[in-house]
Amino acid sequence: MKTIELAGRRYAFHDVGSGTPLLLFHGFPFSSESFWPQLETPPKGFRLIVPDHRGFGASALAEGPSTMETMAADGLALLDSLGLPSAVVGGVSMGGYAALALARLDPGRVRGLLLIDTQAGADDEAGKARREAVALDVIQNGVAGLVSTMLPKLLAPETAVDIRDRVERLMLGQTPAAVAAASRGMASRLDARDVLARFANPTLVVVGELDVITPVEKAKTMADLVAGSALVIVPKAGHLPNLE
Ligand code: MLT
Repeated sequence: MKTIELAGRRYAFHDVGSGTPLLLFHGFPFSSESFWPQLETPPKGFRLIVPDHRGFGASALAEGPSTMETMAADGLALLDSLGLPSAVVGGVSMGGYAALALARLDPGRVRGLLLIDTQAGADDEAGKARREAVALDVIQNGVAGLVSTMLPKLLAPETAVDIRDRVERLMLGQTPAAVAAASRGMASRLDARDVLARFANPTLVVVGELDVITPVEKAKTMADLVAGSALVIVPKAGHLPNLE
């Protein structure tokens, strides 16, 4: 794992494989480790650049909510530090929100989008309230309660137990402060349908057939917004098809 300093803060990332740069953002509440199969065997023809969002994994937390814009800005700063003018940008779930925020901030740097088990819409008021409740709960009680609520929804029933166990360990390893900051950051994310409607570069939307968090219809909505996009539905997978 490599690191750079962003405003005096450690930002950690993997940089593996060679070819077209693919900046890939992880979901909530994980770290770059949630791409372990892809990091072990990078896709042919791609240079896989996978950071830990602020506060997660080996990256330091910054003040305030970890908004999708701050995650996107960290990703852009990483591309700058690697001397990369552009990349394919993608992410799983919250990582997809961050990828869409990056495409809003600086569309010229996005060669293509890879949107995995994510959605373009913003939270409604009830959703925002749930995010705040999660933030307060993890700060007060730790992440175990969130993990036990989320785990059954993340993976399809047939997903192997060793994958389930590693996902659980990965979530339990994240700090309450980082989880709360990201939960609050997701609550304030913008509706990104306009970003997709304007986006003209290649776009791949991937979704697990059995995803109950961001189901297939959310993926179809995103794919429909981008002219010429492709949609792949991964059979028997839930919310984390890159692992399942
Ligand atoms: C994720 O997997 O990143 C989260 O489920 C996203 C969300 O809570 O909206």
